[in-house]
Amino acid sequence: MSRNTALVLLSLGLVFQMSHGIEVNVTKDDKLCLYANLMLNFTVSYEAADNKSQTTEFELPADAKSIDSKCDTASSILTLKFGEGHSWSVNFTLKDEVYQADVVTFTYNLSDTSVFPNSQSNETITVTEKPQTAQVPMDTCYSCKSKEVIEANKVNMTLWDVLIQAFITDGSKSENITSCAADVPTTHVPTTTVTSTTTVAPVTNTTSTSPPATTTPTPTLPTPQVGKYSLKTDQNGTTCLLANFGVRIGFKQNEKYQEMNFETNGTQSSGFCGTNSSELVLVSDDITIKLTFANDMKKFRLHALNVTAKTSSGVFVEANTNLSLWEAAVGSSYMCNKEQNYTITSLLTIYTFSLQVQPFGVTKDVFSTAEECLGDGESFLVPIAVGVALLVLILIVLLAYFIGRKRNMATGYESF
Ligand SMILES: *[C@@H]1O[C@H](CO)[C@@H](O)[C@H](O)[C@H]1NC(C)=O
Ligand SMILES: *[C@@H]1O[C@H](CO)[C@@H](O)[C@H](O)[C@H]1NC(C)=O
Ligand SMILES: *[C@@H]1O[C@H](CO)[C@@H](O)[C@H](O)[C@H]1NC(C)=O
Ligand SMILES: *[C@@H]1O[C@H](CO)[C@@H](O)[C@H](O)[C@H]1NC(C)=O
Ligand SMILES: *[C@@H]1O[C@H](CO)[C@@H](O)[C@H](O)[C@H]1NC(C)=O
Ligand SMILES: *[C@@H]1O[C@H](CO)[C@@H](O)[C@H](O)[C@H]1NC(C)=O
Ligand SMILES: *[C@@H]1O[C@H](CO)[C@@H](O)[C@H](O)[C@H]1NC(C)=O
Ligand SMILES: *[C@@H]1O[C@H](CO)[C@@H](O)[C@H](O)[C@H]1NC(C)=O
Ligand SMILES: *[C@@H]1O[C@H](CO)[C@@H](O)[C@H](O)[C@H]1NC(C)=O
Ligand SMILES: *[C@@H]1O[C@H](CO)[C@@H](O)[C@H](O)[C@H]1NC(C)=O
Ligand SMILES: *[C@@H]1O[C@H](CO)[C@@H](O)[C@H](O)[C@H]1NC(C)=O
Ligand SMILES: *[C@@H]1O[C@H](CO)[C@@H](O)[C@H](O)[C@H]1NC(C)=O
Repeated sequence: MSRNTALVLLSLGLVFQMSHGIEVNVTKDDKLCLYANLMLNFTVSYEAADNKSQTTEFELPADAKSIDSKCDTASSILTLKFGEGHSWSVNFTLKDEVYQADVVTFTYNLSDTSVFPNSQSNETITVTEKPQTAQVPMDTCYSCKSKEVIEANKVNMTLWDVLIQAFITDGSKSENITSCAADVPTTHVPTTTVTSTTTVAPVTNTTSTSPPATTTPTPTLPTPQVGKYSLKTDQNGTTCLLANFGVRIGFKQNEKYQEMNFETNGTQSSGFCGTNSSELVLVSDDITIKLTFANDMKKFRLHALNVTAKTSSGVFVEANTNLSLWEAAVGSSYMCNKEQNYTITSLLTIYTFSLQVQPFGVTKDVFSTAEECLGDGESFLVPIAVGVALLVLILIVLLAYFIGRKRNMATGYESF
């Protein structure tokens, strides 16, 4: 309970400018709870007065201020404001002793002529992006000296010399470092075979030509990369479909269950946008996924899914053309940040990560308001659960009181 009330406590943000990058210390109850030291460049393309697209690059200025940054138990936010109404913020979330940067938001003011000379528009624009950042264990600092680029609509954010620790528990920055993949060349883990955990009895006599079972423990697959896909109405038309997600497939081939991540590298997307149906086809080296969305004018949904996977033992094809997933109102987008699994057929399951799709009614090349899946907005359930628990407690106490009173009266004692 006290932890929950402590959730609401505000925190102070302090910014120091270092000789190198910008350093931010966010405190809560006078204790350091979020630390960041980073270098950041923005590249923004915008329309100049002569209708020509112009690109400008600028650094996060040294005098950026941490305003409204705050730490909670499961989510924290770092917000840096600078110049004439520009701001950059990162949301961190904590789950299962691991934290990550969830959403990066950049707001820029095109009327600031010192940054956007000659801009046609005078609007303030906000872009949000889910970065593909590492999962960082609690009580360690995330370090990334290499450049990481976060690409958003018309904006590239380049970060380097980054040192961040969110969810600091003991008031001081950890000496333990979790480095980004780019800093530490890691061995790429290809598809792995996962031993089936379903109730189907293991088939002991396989006649497949697969190599003798290696006894190496099956490593779990890394979280798949989040791909960003879009379709245009025609060659130089407007964007009509947007889909961002990481996907993993789990399937049973020759009685053997295995999982594969959909690799975004080198993926080709194609498809079409229609009035009552849109289709997105994603082709990677090993997996082809065809997503068909239906639109009944009020709501859209994922109606059909066809997955083709090439494995060492042949081609696996499975489809379901009668689905009703990812439903949301036409004109909005469907979002499910948390990992989600969907049973497509008895042989095929898909797992999605950081999902956001809008197959109809895209305007201005960006996602419309999102309808979130059940569970993403889980935080509001906590107060409800606490309230229910309290109510039950009160009832129990009352009940105990009345029962006790009745007994005492029955035995002739007066308690009050
Ligand atoms: C530039 O944009 C303005 C307003 O959007 C439009 O009226 C004008 O025709 C455009 N000029 C050219 C050369 O496309
Ligand atoms: C960052 O932007 C500044 C200003 O445009 C530029 O001089 C610098 O080279 C950029 N640094 C990187 C790493 O892109
Ligand atoms: C955007 O920039 C203009 C010009 O510098 C300024 O007048 C305006 O207040 C800024 N907008 C915001 C929201 O700060
Ligand atoms: C922004 O531009 C529009 C038209 O281009 C104009 O009507 C409006 O007054 C401008 N707003 C500001 C704050 O300059
Ligand atoms: C962002 O980077 C990508 C890849 O390097 C490039 O194609 C794109 O034009 C860049 N966008 C901006 C606004 O600089
Ligand atoms: C670093 O992590 C290890 C294992 O998690 C822990 O034993 C050690 O105390 C940590 N060191 C510091 C300085 O936090
Ligand atoms: C596997 O099955 C075949 C035919 O069903 C049988 O001849 C063979 O002995 C079995 N092998 C093992 C190891 O059980
Ligand atoms: C659209 O593309 C065609 C050729 O692909 C080109 O000739 C035309 O200028 C483009 N239109 C615009 C508005 O960019
Ligand atoms: C992506 O593919 C290109 C060429 O196919 C390759 O050079 C690059 O290393 C790949 N990147 C990753 C992260 O796998
Ligand atoms: C979808 O559109 C086509 C042609 O536009 C039409 O023939 C068909 O009846 C529509 N289907 C539904 C379910 O509305
Ligand atoms: C799924 O895709 C494969 C390959 O394109 C095709 O052969 C198959 O007919 C499709 N299945 C359905 C139900 O559309
Ligand atoms: C699928 O999701 C449900 C909850 O949405 C979860 O309980 C279950 O463990 C998940 N299954 C797998 C195999 O991840």
